[in-house]
Amino acid sequence: MAATPWLLLLCLSLAAGGVLHARAQPDSNGFISIDCGLQGEEGYVDTATKLSYYPDTGFTDGAGTCRNISADYITPSLCKCLYTVRSFPAGARNCYTLRSLVPGLKYLIRAKFMYGNYDALRRPPVFDLHIGVNHWHTVNISKPHVEKSVEALVVVPDDFVQVCLINTGAGTPFISSLELRPLKKTLYPQVTVAQGLLLSERSNFGQIDGNNVIRYPDDTHDRIWTPLVSSGTYTEVSTTSKVIPDSLFEVPTTVMQTAMRPRNVSSGISLSWDPEPQPNNPSPGYIIIMHFSELEFLLFNVTREFSINLDNEPWHPDNVTPKYLYGAAIYNSVPSRKSRYDISIIPTARSTQPPIINAIETYTVVTTTKLGTDSLDVSAIMAIKVKYQVHKNWFGDPCGPETVMVWDRLTCSYATARPPRIIRLDLSLRGLNGDISSSFTNLKAIQYLNLSNNNLVGSIPDALSQLTSLTVLDLSHNQLNGAIPSRLLKRVEDGSLNLRYGNNRDLCANDNSCRLATKRKSNLAIYIAVPVVVSMIVVIVVVVLLCSLRWKRQGSMNNSVEPQNEATTSYVSGNNAHRDSFSLHQLESRRFTYEELKMITNNFQRVLGQGGFGYVYDGFLEDGTQVAVKLRSHSSSQGFKEFLAEAHILTRIHHKNLVTMTGYCKDGEYMALVYEYMSEGTLHEHLEGSKHNGGCLSWRQRL
Ligand SMILES: *[C@@H]1O[C@H](CO)[C@@H](O)[C@H](O)[C@H]1NC(C)=O
Ligand SMILES: *[C@@H]1O[C@H](CO)[C@@H](O)[C@H](O)[C@H]1NC(C)=O
Ligand SMILES: *[C@@H]1O[C@H](CO)[C@@H](O)[C@H](O)[C@H]1NC(C)=O
Ligand SMILES: *[C@@H]1O[C@H](CO)[C@@H](O)[C@H](O)[C@H]1NC(C)=O
Ligand SMILES: *[C@@H]1O[C@H](CO)[C@@H](O)[C@H](O)[C@H]1NC(C)=O
Repeated sequence: MAATPWLLLLCLSLAAGGVLHARAQPDSNGFISIDCGLQGEEGYVDTATKLSYYPDTGFTDGAGTCRNISADYITPSLCKCLYTVRSFPAGARNCYTLRSLVPGLKYLIRAKFMYGNYDALRRPPVFDLHIGVNHWHTVNISKPHVEKSVEALVVVPDDFVQVCLINTGAGTPFISSLELRPLKKTLYPQVTVAQGLLLSERSNFGQIDGNNVIRYPDDTHDRIWTPLVSSGTYTEVSTTSKVIPDSLFEVPTTVMQTAMRPRNVSSGISLSWDPEPQPNNPSPGYIIIMHFSELEFLLFNVTREFSINLDNEPWHPDNVTPKYLYGAAIYNSVPSRKSRYDISIIPTARSTQPPIINAIETYTVVTTTKLGTDSLDVSAIMAIKVKYQVHKNWFGDPCGPETVMVWDRLTCSYATARPPRIIRLDLSLRGLNGDISSSFTNLKAIQYLNLSNNNLVGSIPDALSQLTSLTVLDLSHNQLNGAIPSRLLKRVEDGSLNLRYGNNRDLCANDNSCRLATKRKSNLAIYIAVPVVVSMIVVIVVVVLLCSLRWKRQGSMNNSVEPQNEATTSYVSGNNAHRDSFSLHQLESRRFTYEELKMITNNFQRVLGQGGFGYVYDGFLEDGTQVAVKLRSHSSSQGFKEFLAEAHILTRIHHKNLVTMTGYCKDGEYMALVYEYMSEGTLHEHLEGSKHNGGCLSWRQRL
């Protein structure tokens, strides 16, 4: 019965999750296509690729704002994906998290930027782009109408990847679109865990139409092949026959079907470019990949053969003769660094045909050696972030890369060649609601965890005691209940854990007290289990039962000392000093020195009230637990025996409605009892009760 609404809730939340995730998940190709800043829930089909693009809600954790580019920059040929941007005016780092990836697989990640004066400031920004914790590119948007595309081929080590925009103080970062395409592991051998490729050029030679960009579906990996129309001394060669692609780069047949050659049979092809230094990479190394295929059926007496030079040095040791309708690539694996790149493709002496080239790709290398935070720590802290709605600067990798980007309220440890770990987390005073998430217990390297001063409910997870590195755990000032796990208490006892749990009204430290506290709850549970269909009479009976239980309970609150203390009475009546000291040791509470009491009460500064015994002072234990210290006054007629009796009784009784004794002091002439602090009213009642009882100990009266 009771399970139905839960089931319903579960189904609802699953359904809601399903809707959101449909967008966040890769499509059947494994593609993720995001139109950043697109408003609403609906995606659309891109006219060129027929791929579906979706709004970016759900990828940025709610960071950033949606903006439209100025209508002045919208032209009929402009991709719809550039009409809107998401800008990030707040925060040093904001990230898109792309999920459900295959760890260890290679991916093409492409971000597009078109400023389009979206903020009407006419000031295109400069900002950094990171993949995870590694620098990718400095985006320098020079003109409002320029479409800038930044593409990288990287190995993604986890099942997610973050693309982060870093505000470097030169304008507000923004982004127009973000695309992710999986690549086979065997493709692009230059791409490793430690090295990614940043696209510089990807050109398709021999096109006759300069607008004929080739991408998906012709290229199953959706690389963008930019057409280069042959002119001047060059002309095009083409075929309509299928060209079998090479296995390392899988250049699509439509790209390989066209090529460029010099008009003059005895001339060569020359290509050149200047390196583009980046602020963080002043002399970038280049990876060059050239694609060749013979497109003409050559008779036996005809030969096409050429050599390739870079800066007049042979770049490839062998002469090249492209195979008819088979793609082949010539590439370097170690990046070359030059002040200028001059490539010449020269026909050999026995070649009767001019050289050809079908396509070329040039890349600079980006190092991806910086490690992101331990992935289990990341999943745990992400779950904590979602559960408790913690935002602030919690974007991107929790631990870095640089110390300035570490999430606030957490501290990490860094070791070479190992992922950073989260070692401290302070979520005190954050208004956390709900129970203590099991995700905290998944932060396996955590040493310090402060969850104090929140509204946490429920019990303390036993699994916290399994966190071997944990030395400080502050759970004080919450609404936790139930028993403190015994294994946790054991760690407190053996000194490996400093646990603070004060000011949780329904927490109990040992089994006896818990039994008392849970008794009423279990009774209630039985009544709740009674089916609702049972007639009103039953309900009334339950109500009556509950009421009488309450009455009984209230009665027993005043008398609760009685039933539990048959055993202790003997101590009270005993006048044997040995016995007294024996019972002192029996007390399962702490013995304080007078000096300690002075510290706890800040030199007996704040008086909470006065009982028959003496004054009651406000104090705090070193773990933050608030206590009331009842100091025996010199004028008190109460002797050590009575004092001991009260101490003994109170340590045996841990009850919600009774003050629980934390410890005692017997230091020379000073005697004091240290109680757990009750709310002002309750304590006051207690003290008032003492007064009404003629200044004597209430338990004695009742006894
Ligand atoms: C952007 O333009 C669309 C329609 O073209 C409009 O519905 C939306 O409100 C605009 N958004 C902003 C932030 O101006
Ligand atoms: C951005 O590019 C412009 C030229 O296009 C250059 O003058 C400027 O220094 C660059 N800014 C940065 C921060 O690299
Ligand atoms: C072709 O190229 C060769 C060598 O570069 C040159 O000697 C010759 O004059 C050129 N012929 C024409 C027709 O341009
Ligand atoms: C190759 O042979 C064909 C006929 O067999 C001839 O027409 C052509 O001129 C020859 N080409 C060369 C370069 O010798
Ligand atoms: C936990 O946080 C609270 C509030 O910020 C602070 O007063 C307390 O000292 C912290 N506890 C520990 C053990 O550091």
